[in-house]
Amino acid sequence: MVQPATELYLVTGATGQIGRRVVHQLRQQGQRVRAWVRLGSNYQDLAAVGAELYFGDISQREDIWTAMSGVNYVISTHNHPKHILQIHLKSNLHLIEIAHKFGVECFTYISGLGVDQYARNAPLLEAKLVIENELLNRGLNYIILRPPLLNHYLLLWLRQLQKTGSLILTGDGHLRHAWISLDDLANITVQVTQNPAFRRQILPVGGSPLSRWDLIHLYQKLTQSQPMIIPVPLHILDGIRWGLQWLQQEEDLGTLKTLFSHEFICSERDIKQLENHLHIQLESLEQFLQRYLGLDTEDSKYSNPK
Ligand SMILES: NC(=O)c1ccc[n+]([C@@H]2O[C@H](COP(=O)([O-])OP(=O)(O)OC[C@H]3O[C@@H](n4cnc5c(N)ncnc54)[C@H](OP(=O)(O)O)[C@@H]3O)[C@@H](O)[C@H]2O)c1
Repeated sequence: MVQPATELYLVTGATGQIGRRVVHQLRQQGQRVRAWVRLGSNYQDLAAVGAELYFGDISQREDIWTAMSGVNYVISTHNHPKHILQIHLKSNLHLIEIAHKFGVECFTYISGLGVDQYARNAPLLEAKLVIENELLNRGLNYIILRPPLLNHYLLLWLRQLQKTGSLILTGDGHLRHAWISLDDLANITVQVTQNPAFRRQILPVGGSPLSRWDLIHLYQKLTQSQPMIIPVPLHILDGIRWGLQWLQQEEDLGTLKTLFSHEFICSERDIKQLENHLHIQLESLEQFLQRYLGLDTEDSKYSNPK
């Protein structure tokens, strides 16, 4: 007889690109999931698959205390590109501290490739490095995943291409990134959280490297379309940053500039190790995009409408 699940997973950012997929995958396994959502977000599908909804503001410490009750595993996937200090950094530090106090079994954090190399002048990478160090020093079980950070923009760019037929390509579009299917990323997140062999490790996570130009060519091939690409030199971002400083909105542009200026890739060895340890084969980006661009029900179910 199948035993009912007793362990509880707290997934923050449950309406985000990764969090939503993680919640769906955990529920498919029949796990108990507390999905952290905000009023006004699109969380109906999470309730429909049987996740317990927890409404709260992750920047509020008391909301974290309440959310942590009875939790065995924390999977932290919340983010806010304009409030990196308040929402990303401080809330993750509070989450870690409180998870430790509650004695959770494992804390899973989605960091990013290159945080140890390029944190300077890139607030999101800097925040992620501080959070990684807190996990390393705090004394609770953790697993840190490092996928390529530009991956976050993959579907957003494709949506823009589909909608407008054009795309602004900032900086050198020939630099390569280790793109990964969001479904694979969610699957890996769930698997490493559940497997004690991965505790206290930092894992680079990404597929074969492709440049943004490669992506555009892949999109052209899959859709048989000729999108208009508007190249913009990287230094234009500096001008925009300067203007936005006055509005204190410039943080994410600093990160973007760093992401557009370097290659963020996984070695063949890292990819093979990941596949062998997890007994998975990463799907090709072409497979993932074909599914996504076809907007089949499975993927549109996970898509974030924002
Ligand atoms: N996506 C990728 O491929 C990728 C790659 C590398 C690293 N990462 C990292 O993985 C994490 C998740 O990325 P993602 O792309 O899934 O992010 P995302 O789609 O932007 O989702 C962010 C989530 O955070 C929630 N959130 C924002 N402010 C909140 C608040 N004050 N209280 C509670 N929840 C709040 C959002 O809720 P609402 O829906 O209500 O706004 C949303 O559910 C981030 O740390 C990111 O840097 C992602």
